[in-house]
Amino acid sequence: MPSKSAPKKSIYERYEQLKNLIRHHDDLYHVKDKPKISDYEYDQLFADLLKMEADNSNLDRSDSPSQRVGGAPIDQFQKVPHRMPMLSLSNSYSTEDLVDFDERVKKFLRLEKDSEEKIEYFAELKLDGLSLELIYENGLLIRGLTRGDGLIGEDVTHNVRTIKSIPLKLKTDTPPALLEVRGEVLIFKKDFLEMNRKNEDLGIALFANARNAAAGTIRQLDPKVASTRPLKFIAYGTGETQGIIFSSQQDITRKFASLGLPVLPESFVTCTSRIEDILEYYAEIEKKRPRLEFDIDGIVVKVNSLTKQEDLGLVARSPRWATAAKFKPEQMETVIEDIQVQVGRTGALTPVAIMAPVKVGGVTITHATLHNQDEINRKDVRIGDTVFVQRAGDVIPEVVSVVLAKRPKNSKPYVVTDSCPACGTTAVKEPEDAVSRCPNPYCDAVLKESIKHFVSRRAMGVEKVGDKIIETFVEKKLVATFSDLYKLNKKSLLELERQGEKSVENILSNIEASKKTTLSRFIYALGIRFVGEQTAKLIADHYGTIEAFLKTTPEELEKVPEIGPKVSAAIIQYLQDKRWQTEIQKLLDAGITFEKPKRSAEGPLAGFSFLVTGTLPVKRDEAQNFIEEHGGKLLSSVSSKLSYLVVGDDPGSKVDKAQSLGVKMISWDELKKLIK
Ligand code: IVH
Repeated sequence: MPSKSAPKKSIYERYEQLKNLIRHHDDLYHVKDKPKISDYEYDQLFADLLKMEADNSNLDRSDSPSQRVGGAPIDQFQKVPHRMPMLSLSNSYSTEDLVDFDERVKKFLRLEKDSEEKIEYFAELKLDGLSLELIYENGLLIRGLTRGDGLIGEDVTHNVRTIKSIPLKLKTDTPPALLEVRGEVLIFKKDFLEMNRKNEDLGIALFANARNAAAGTIRQLDPKVASTRPLKFIAYGTGETQGIIFSSQQDITRKFASLGLPVLPESFVTCTSRIEDILEYYAEIEKKRPRLEFDIDGIVVKVNSLTKQEDLGLVARSPRWATAAKFKPEQMETVIEDIQVQVGRTGALTPVAIMAPVKVGGVTITHATLHNQDEINRKDVRIGDTVFVQRAGDVIPEVVSVVLAKRPKNSKPYVVTDSCPACGTTAVKEPEDAVSRCPNPYCDAVLKESIKHFVSRRAMGVEKVGDKIIETFVEKKLVATFSDLYKLNKKSLLELERQGEKSVENILSNIEASKKTTLSRFIYALGIRFVGEQTAKLIADHYGTIEAFLKTTPEELEKVPEIGPKVSAAIIQYLQDKRWQTEIQKLLDAGITFEKPKRSAEGPLAGFSFLVTGTLPVKRDEAQNFIEEHGGKLLSSVSSKLSYLVVGDDPGSKVDKAQSLGVKMISWDELKKLIK
């Protein structure tokens, strides 16, 4: 019997429409940087999509935005030949080489020096990431390959799908039968520094630079890892194509953009037939380099016309139609005068290169961490070596490579001592740990670092008690535990060199003032392994009093948001240690008291948890304080326990994870509305 109402759209049609709509908003958000709907509205759309998929097992999910969150891990990488080899570029370091390049091109095309015919060049940034090939068949992303050896790549599709700026489906109604897109995978500088900061907090090995972090991520077997890392992709060329014709590099960039593929903004590229313009472009980009959001190592100059590119062909594995002009390295040469092993507050023994002072990017560098023995072996860094140093993410000094030609004859491979340089105790290396650690709880070096942490601004916040004086306290045996700080008196301090009446009074009154603190600061100050500032706050919120926390059980601990078995085990081990039990009691006896934190348990946000990601219209600290002051709780990672993810500009991977878990997302403005 025919139905009276208008024919209802089939589930398939509605599903296709919804996928298209979400793709459209993904593109606006991640590629164009111009979102048109609120995060909340987006979140609703996404939830509808997930529901539709959950209710209808027969829908074709292969191109669905829901596929980004990372499927099952793979066992090993498949080797897949590239249909067209991925070549490399000839490099040059001077602008004269660019002039030579121009002459070579013209000569090869048999153009006279003063010929009327112009060769147009397309110049763009040389991105310092990892090259990647995306294969789209009939508009659908079916595969992602690394460059491999240029002929055979590795299939990393599982990770590529997690990269938000890569469309799973091209934005066109008439997709080409085949489009191979080539480009670079990167991690932006700010995301890289943030990643390392977190790893440092957790005592996990740090990445040497953004490129290594990106490489390490794309070559993970488990896509869950990639889905939580802030990978980005920028397209700059094609491989094999069918059913789409490009006339020039510029045409490639423009068509890519209209297909929804991320490309460099036009303001970063130039198209000109005057080689002088290219030289100017080179100088201009070199100047902008330190302020760019991502690492680049030069510019790439390509003959714009693809017909001419074909005429020019290749020499060996490099095209004649393109060249890279690298920048003078922000790397400088210096000599390693010594390698010293530093002891951290967790006992971690970290080898540090002490170098002849050298200026890199305007800053004088004298020290660079060598991370651990594996890293030293990999680079074969030795005392006396001449090395290149640079600043990773433009900040952290690192040794890039050794100039073997300048190695002294008698040099020996460097082996990190297997005993603590401060106390001589034999170091211990756990299998899952990248570094070895001094296990001696009474080690002076561990003590100095622990006390520096204890008094630091975000912990007990003892003002004007700096590193030097703490080292003196420990060396003069005035302080051997945290609680000894509260026993210091005027007489003993005045005996120390260079301490006048006034400064001694200051020190003592600042120490006294720190006794009034909050439970979370105190827990953070204790320096329990894996308990960072955020975790300490969650613990304090959960238990409310120090007594309740000291009596906790593993089961209770795991009820605290974000605390899993590993952190829980570390806390339990700490709390069961007689030495710490006595120490905490001494601290409490010294008169430490806990004030209620400024945040209220009753505010309009009470009972909800929040995490902030991306750039908000206000400073991160300010946003977090705002949430806490209105009773909200802050979490440090996305989990199903999170009530709201507050999303700012350029948010990164937390958004993916929140989507997959169905966590609500709101903007800063929407958050403020919640208060009203
Ligand atoms: S075009 C014939 N454009 O540089 C190769 N490459 O040695 C054509 N790269 O492995 C490559 N930015 O990973 C091209 N804007 C750019 C690039 C770029 C970085 C890398 C690429 C390639 C290497 C070439």
